[in-house]
Amino acid sequence: MTPQGAAPDRYALVGHPVSHSWSPFIHGLFARQTGQNMQYRLLDVPPERFRAEVVQFFVGGGRGLNVTVPHKPAAAEIVSELTPRATLARAVNTIRVKGSSLGLVGDNTDGVGLVVDLTENLGLALAGRRLLILGAGGATRGVLGPLLAQQPATLVIANRTVARAEELVAEFGSSGPVSACGFADVEQRPFDLVINATSASLQGEVPAIPAGAIDATTVCYDMAYAKGDTPFTLWARERHAGATHKGWGMLVEQAAEAFLVWRGVRPQTRPVLELLKAGGADRNVGGH
Ligand code: ATR
Repeated sequence: MTPQGAAPDRYALVGHPVSHSWSPFIHGLFARQTGQNMQYRLLDVPPERFRAEVVQFFVGGGRGLNVTVPHKPAAAEIVSELTPRATLARAVNTIRVKGSSLGLVGDNTDGVGLVVDLTENLGLALAGRRLLILGAGGATRGVLGPLLAQQPATLVIANRTVARAEELVAEFGSSGPVSACGFADVEQRPFDLVINATSASLQGEVPAIPAGAIDATTVCYDMAYAKGDTPFTLWARERHAGATHKGWGMLVEQAAEAFLVWRGVRPQTRPVLELLKAGGADRNVGGH
């Protein structure tokens, strides 16, 4: 417990742009729920000022940062230490101060956030299942390690630019049964889970995978989140997928994991997720 009247510990999300972010709302609810004396702000910082602003934030007494687009890879370069999961992701979405020194530890909670949403909130078992992930950018890289740790039967990475998917396979191939292909070459046999990790939704587009990749047993998950359907969830529903989900749960779970990294307590996510899904979520498509 903090003494009454003590200044709140300062946290922030740094990105560009960040005005659309739900993170202050989510962390505000977590802080209230767990009785933590903290504040959480938004820092809109362009790439050329990223390093200087991060240094200034921590020198000025800030306790932790979340990092979002486009700074996650740059954040991995400026911290003094990376956790194993941030090393694998080559990207940082959470920075904490190391002990009482000014050393900064970079972490990545995106992958665990996705896996907790899939397995705990949505009750999906991933072991032995056929998984397809669309996209081979930073969003995919960030979640491959935790997904493969669930021991799926196969994890296919399909991307518009096949070479990028092949690079990920070369890197993660020793961690599990992962393979690469272009969208048109995705096997026409239903997958158990299809995850959209492309940024195509932001342009109103859907990766052009064959309809035979999904059927009434397939769960389709868009890492993007929006009030109504995303282009991908709409596409999946029109093809009678078994279920469609958007990335609200991943958003809240990655935040809860970051909160745990900073404060040593994992808040309950269900009430926050219900609030977001119930109507708070009234903005357009967003990503992690
Ligand atoms: P992020 O950090 O969001 O993953 P990124 O590293 O720029 O961002 O990667 C974006 C991903 O979305 C890539 O897989 C990209 O495909 P390419 O590697 O071929 O560029 C994919 N993507 C973006 N727009 C797309 C679209 N309109 N259709 C299909 N895939 C798209």
